[in-house]
Order: sequence, then structure tokens, then C-alpha cells
Amino acid sequence: MSNKKIILTGERPTGRLHLGHFVGTLKNRIKIQEEGNYDEMYIMIADSQALTDNADNPEKIRENIIEVALDYLSIGLDPKKVTIFLQSQVSALTELTFYYSNLVTVSRLQRNPTVKNEIKMKNFEANIPAGFFTYPISQAADITAFKANIVPVGEDQLPMIEQTREIVRSFNRIYQNILIEPEAVLPENKYAYRLPGIDGSAKMSKSLGNGIYLADTKEELKKKVMSMYTDPKHIHIEDPGNVENNIVFIYLDVFATNEDFKKYLPEYNNLDELKAHYQKGGLGDVTIKKFLLQVLENVLEPIREKRSYFEARIDEVYEILKNGSEKASQVANKTLKEVKDAMAINYFEDADLIQKHKEKYENL
Ligand code: TRP
Repeated sequence: MSNKKIILTGERPTGRLHLGHFVGTLKNRIKIQEEGNYDEMYIMIADSQALTDNADNPEKIRENIIEVALDYLSIGLDPKKVTIFLQSQVSALTELTFYYSNLVTVSRLQRNPTVKNEIKMKNFEANIPAGFFTYPISQAADITAFKANIVPVGEDQLPMIEQTREIVRSFNRIYQNILIEPEAVLPENKYAYRLPGIDGSAKMSKSLGNGIYLADTKEELKKKVMSMYTDPKHIHIEDPGNVENNIVFIYLDVFATNEDFKKYLPEYNNLDELKAHYQKGGLGDVTIKKFLLQVLENVLEPIREKRSYFEARIDEVYEILKNGSEKASQVANKTLKEVKDAMAINYFEDADLIQKHKEKYENL
């Protein structure tokens, strides 16, 4: 088996991408792309998966495919270096899913913590769509179709990678050793595993409406940062403040560099000094929020600029998705062929089988 470095990852197009996605996984992709130390990178807009819990709202998915594509391009993913594609346009993925589903038990699916959590959050309980329940299997198809061995994702996707590895092991054992066991790649910064929302809730999420979006305008960003949850007991500037569950400090932990301090807040050398002052008392929320605003604006401004470039070239964006989907189809079809060969469901190409059946009936 080759030791190529093949990367696959993606997102469901149910809304624009936010800072949680950015630090959780998007940044990693740019880093990998810039380092160039890989053979192939596939970025998938998981529209089929998005339909598993949005069957009644296909319009939402149709609207958000372009948003996610624009977000990808705006952070600097380069279609010359990576293949950006639409899951639904690569039909081999659905076919693989069906074959893999024979290798997974219902009770195994029921134990998937991410799916369990989503079912609870969506109040599905008694009415879980079968497609949603089985999406971890389709995710195994997404990954294995490209023989990806590296999957940069957020922490919540770890159960999917584990499920994929199990399917790969079963397949390779029962049929032939042709599929690759992938590894997840998580962000380096632990704080970035799960970026909290601006309201202080545990996770930034579309449904909670507590996110900062890559496409937010400067004004929107300012409004959100200035309304961020800090320490409710830190009422007067001179009060000692808590930095632990303080969203501004959590964000600074993720985003602020010493360079930022030099540029925007030279009274402090680094975040430790700023935290110490806040804890002691005498440092107001407005100061730390203004600093965070500058730090974030520094990250988001170039992204916004790139986005507006592509917003003015929507035809080109669709062309990128179309070409990417064609390329992805070729690769996935090749794997599907190998899978079907390994499972011996390639009847028309199997001369021995046909000959055997001929002989079986020749002498009757
Ligand atoms: N589950 C991912 C999400 O919710 C999307 C996804 C689908 C994916 N297939 C994948 C991610 C394969 C990584 C690898 O955003």
C-alpha cells in the first residue's frame, strides 16, 4: 500500500462558516495547503449529509452551498491545490454507503456519541430519519472513496473517524485489503477544540445564533465583540475579574499573538500580563473588548476582502465546484470499482463465473 498523504474533510452546508470552524479545522487546512506536504486534498461540501436532517428544507441547503464555497475560497483554499466538490454530485459515495451499511450494526450506530447528542438537540428521539441515523456510514464512504489517511476535523467528528476505521477493518478482513484507515487531525490549540459562543454557551453554533461568521461585516463584528459575555461579577473597573469563563479571554487565548500586543496594546507584553491585571482589578471590559476586536478584525479583514472578490464571480465559483466534483467522481468511481471487485459483484466482467454457469447447464 502506498504511503501517500491524502486529505479529505468537509462541512455540511447548513449555514455560513464561523470562527469556531475557522480555529477548529479550517486554519489547519490552510496550513497544510501552504506547507504543501501532501499528495491530494479534497474539501467536500456535504450537501447529501445536510439533507439527512433537512429533508423538508432542501432550499436551505441550496442556498448555503454557495455560502460555504465562498467561505472556503475566502480563507484561501486554492482550487489549483485542493479539490473542492459537492457530495451529492459524486454518486459513487451513495453506492459505497449502501455496501458499507452491511458492515455496521444498529446498536453500534446507537452508541455514536455525536449522533446521540444531535438527536437530543434536534428533539428527534422517536422520529429519527434513517438516513440521519446512518450518516456515520456515509461519512466512511466519503473518506475511504478517496483513500484519505488524514482527516482534519473538529473534536466532535472523532466518533465518525472511529466508525470509519471499524468499517475499513471489517471490509479489509472480509473482502480484500484495499481500504485505508484514516487518522483525525485536531487543532493544535486546545482552546480551539470547541470555541464557545459570544453569549458564553459551550459551543458556537448556527442554531444558537451566538456565532461570529467569517463573512460578518466590520460593524457586525464590533457589535458582537462589544456584547460578549465576560465576568458578570466584574461590575466596576476596580473589581477583580475572572478570566476563566470569560469569553473575551478565551478568544484572546485562541487568537491573540504577542505581535498583536506590540501592535495594539503595547502596555502589556503578552496575554499573561493582561490576565494578571484583570484578575487583580483595575482593567475594564471595554479595553479588553477593543483589543479583541482589533485582533479579530486583523484575522477577518483579509478573509472578507477575498470573499467579496469571489462574490463578484459567482459563475467562477460554480465552475470550481463543477470541476472539483468531476475530478472527485473520477477518483471515487475508481475506488467503487475496486470495492465491487473485492466483493465479487462484478458479474459481467467475471468470465470464470459465466463459464461456470454455462457448464452447470450445458449437460442438462
Ligand atoms: N460531518 C461533517 C459536518 O457535520 C461533514 C462531513 C461529511 C465530513 N463527511 C465528512 C467531515 C468526511 C470529514 C470527513 O460538518
